[in-house]
Amino acid sequence: MRHTFKLSLLVLSIGLYQPVAQASCAAAAQECRVNAIKGHEELGLNNYVSWPWLTGYEASGLHWNQFISLSMNKGIKEYKHNYALYLQSFLNDEDEDDEDEEEAEAAKPNYKTYPVGTTIVKENYLSDQGKPGNLSSVTVMHKREKGFDSGSGDWEYFQFGADGQLFFRGGSKKLVVKHSCHSCHMNVADRDFVFATMLSVQTNDGDLE
Ligand code: HEC
Repeated sequence: MRHTFKLSLLVLSIGLYQPVAQASCAAAAQECRVNAIKGHEELGLNNYVSWPWLTGYEASGLHWNQFISLSMNKGIKEYKHNYALYLQSFLNDEDEDDEDEEEAEAAKPNYKTYPVGTTIVKENYLSDQGKPGNLSSVTVMHKREKGFDSGSGDWEYFQFGADGQLFFRGGSKKLVVKHSCHSCHMNVADRDFVFATMLSVQTNDGDLE
C-alpha cells in the first residue's frame, strides 16, 4: 500500500516535469494571436492584432508547410482592389495566346498604390501536423513618406522574431533588406511592391485612422 502510494507520487512528479507542449493555434480564432511586437508605437505595431485581419491562417504557397496571417491598419481598399485585379490577371493568363501579347500590354491592370502610413503585418507560423503551430517570425512593410526610397515605393521593411525582437529594418538600398526582402517584392513593382495574393476574411474597407 505504502509502495503504491510512493509509486503514484513518483509517477505524478514525472508527469509534472514533462515539458508542457505549447498550444497550437489550430482554430482560425482571433484569440490564438498574441501581439508579438512590443514598442514601435510610431507604426502602431504594439497593437496590430486589433487591426483588420485580412486572411485567417493561410497556407503559404511560397514557404511550403507554413501558414501566414495578414493584418493592415490602412490601405485596405487599395489592397482589395489590387487583389481583385491579381485574380483577374491570373485567370486571363490561363487562356492567353502569345499573339495576344500586344493586347495584353494595352490592358495592363490599373493597380493602386498605398497611402503613406500603410502598415502591413505578416505573421509566419510553423506547421504543426498540417495546422498553424507556433509563430516563427513577423515581417512588416510600412509605407514611409515620399522620398524615403524613391523608385521602390518608399516602403520600409522589417523583420522581427517570434519574441518581438527586431532583426533588421530599412529601405531597398540597405543590403540585408535588398537581399532578404526587396529582391522578391521588386517583382511586383507594378502592384506597389505588395503581392496582395490573399484575402479570405470579410473586413470593412475602413482604415483605422
Ligand atoms: C522569396 C520571395 C520573398 C521574399 C524573400 C520575401 N517575401 Fe514577402 N512576400 C512574398 C510573397 C509571394 C508574398 C505573398 C504571400 C505569400 O504567398 O506568402 C509576400 C507577402 C508579404 C507581405 C504581405 C503583403 C504582400 O506583399 O502581399 C509582407 C508584409 C511581406 N511579404 C514582407 C516581407 C519582408 C519584410 C521580407 C524580408 C524580411 C519579405 N517579405 C521577403 C515573397 C517574398
